[in-house]
Amino acid sequence: MNTFTVNGTAYALDASSREQTLMHFLREELSLTGTKNGCAIGQCGSCTVLVNRKAVRSCTIPLHRIAGKHVLTIEALSQDGDLHLIQQAFIDAGALQCGFCTPGMIMSSYGLLISDPSPTREEIRLALRGNICRCTGYQQIIDAVELAALRVRELGTIL
Ligand code: FES
Ligand code: FES
Repeated sequence: MNTFTVNGTAYALDASSREQTLMHFLREELSLTGTKNGCAIGQCGSCTVLVNRKAVRSCTIPLHRIAGKHVLTIEALSQDGDLHLIQQAFIDAGALQCGFCTPGMIMSSYGLLISDPSPTREEIRLALRGNICRCTGYQQIIDAVELAALRVRELGTIL
């Protein structure tokens, strides 16, 4: 299969797909710059997106490996101008300062809450272990994911 989707839109793989990463494609070809380039070597988590509903570091994935898969980026989360409940929880919990790590944190959180809407604080820490934040000290981020999880359970859906 030589196609894949990003936020529901289909794209075709071509010869250049072997020479670029998924992060590069998202940022440079689709201008989806919510996927941040923090290190480009798989160390910081700022480039995290979902591939087939699993959180992955897009700078580590050659684009041709995405064939037949579905990519979701931070840009797909808000709907009709309303923030996604995880985005709102990060604001409500004061879980961001400079904001550079935030899209990656939110996508890792999304990947966690899709599979487990009732994570413990330790499970949240584990799910975010690959996401580095130099500003917050992490406690408010854990609080935000707990708050988002509560709202997912109340709503009965992650949207
Ligand atoms: S930019 Fe991908 S892990 Fe840092
Ligand atoms: S809020 Fe600045 S790096 Fe996390």
